[in-house]
Amino acid sequence: MQTTRMEEQAMNRRARDPWVSPLLRWFGRNGEPMPWRRRPTPWRVWVSEIMLQQTQVQTVIPYFDRFIRRFPSLRSLARADLHDVLKLWEGLGYYSRARNLHRAARLVVSDHGGRIPRNADALRQLPGIGAYTAAAVASIAFRQPVPLWDGNVRRVMARLLARNDPPRKTLAYLQDHLPASRPGDFNQALMELGRLVCTPRKPDCAHCPLRHACRALKTGKTAAFPARVARLAVPCYDVVACVMKKNGRILIARRKTDRMLGGLWEFPGGKREPGETLEQTARRETREELALDIEPQEILCVV
Ligand code: ADE
Repeated sequence: MQTTRMEEQAMNRRARDPWVSPLLRWFGRNGEPMPWRRRPTPWRVWVSEIMLQQTQVQTVIPYFDRFIRRFPSLRSLARADLHDVLKLWEGLGYYSRARNLHRAARLVVSDHGGRIPRNADALRQLPGIGAYTAAAVASIAFRQPVPLWDGNVRRVMARLLARNDPPRKTLAYLQDHLPASRPGDFNQALMELGRLVCTPRKPDCAHCPLRHACRALKTGKTAAFPARVARLAVPCYDVVACVMKKNGRILIARRKTDRMLGGLWEFPGGKREPGETLEQTARRETREELALDIEPQEILCVV
C-alpha cells in the first residue's frame, strides 16, 4: 500500500514525538539571540562554532563581532597575515583554533574555489574541524540532516532515556529522530536545553519542555545521569619568565608554531626542571631558546 506525502509526514511526526516537537517549539520561543543566529551564513556559523569550542557563549559574542567585522568573508581571512588573526584572537585562548581556521580558509580558497563544503564528511577534512563542528556547520548552515554530540547533548539524552549510551549509539538514536526540515534547530535546541535548563547540577525540570517524556525524571534519577567520568589530574609546573632589558629596550620572543600558544610572543623562559632553582631555569632556558647567557638580577614578582 502506498502512503501519501501527508500520511508519511504525520507518521514521521508521531515517530518523533513525544519529545521532538516540544523541543523545537521550546527553542522557537526560548532560543537566545546570538549574532550568528541572526544571519546564519556558512562563514558566520563556521567562525562561531570554532569560537564556541571550549568557550562560553557570552565570552564568544564580542570576539565574534570583532572578528566578523575585520574578516567578513572567508576570502578576507585567507588573505590575512596569521599575526593579525592571532592578535584578534588574543584573550579567547586555545590559539590553535585561530591557526587552523586561517589554514582551513586558505585551503577552501585553493581546493574548493572559495566555497565552504556543504557536507559533514568534506568539512571534516579541513584543519580544526572534528565530528562535532562538521555536524554543527552542515546542519545549521546547510540544513544537512546530521546529528551532533557534545557535553550538553550527552547530558540531555542520558536523562531523557535514562541510559548512558556511548556517543555512537546516541548519534544513531538522534539520526532516527532528526526532523529533516529543521536539523540545525534540532541540534541547537538540544545544546541550548542542556545549557539553560537540563544543567549538570540543578536541572530546572519544572520548566523543561521534555519533562513528560524524561525517563530519569519519572524514576527520580536525574542526578544519576549522565554517569560521571574520571577527570585527569591537572598538572602543576613552576614556570619562569625573564624580563631582559638592554639600552631601554625589552626582549620578547616568538614561540615555535607547533606547540602550545605557538606563534605568540612571550617573555623568554620555561618550566623548572626537578632540582633546579628558578635562577638556574632562567639561565638554562635563555641559553637553549635564544643562545644567550644571562645573569638573573632580581625577582620582579611571583604569581
Ligand atoms: N554550543 C555550540 N554551538 C551552539 C549553538 N549553535 N547553539 C547552542 N549552543 C551551542
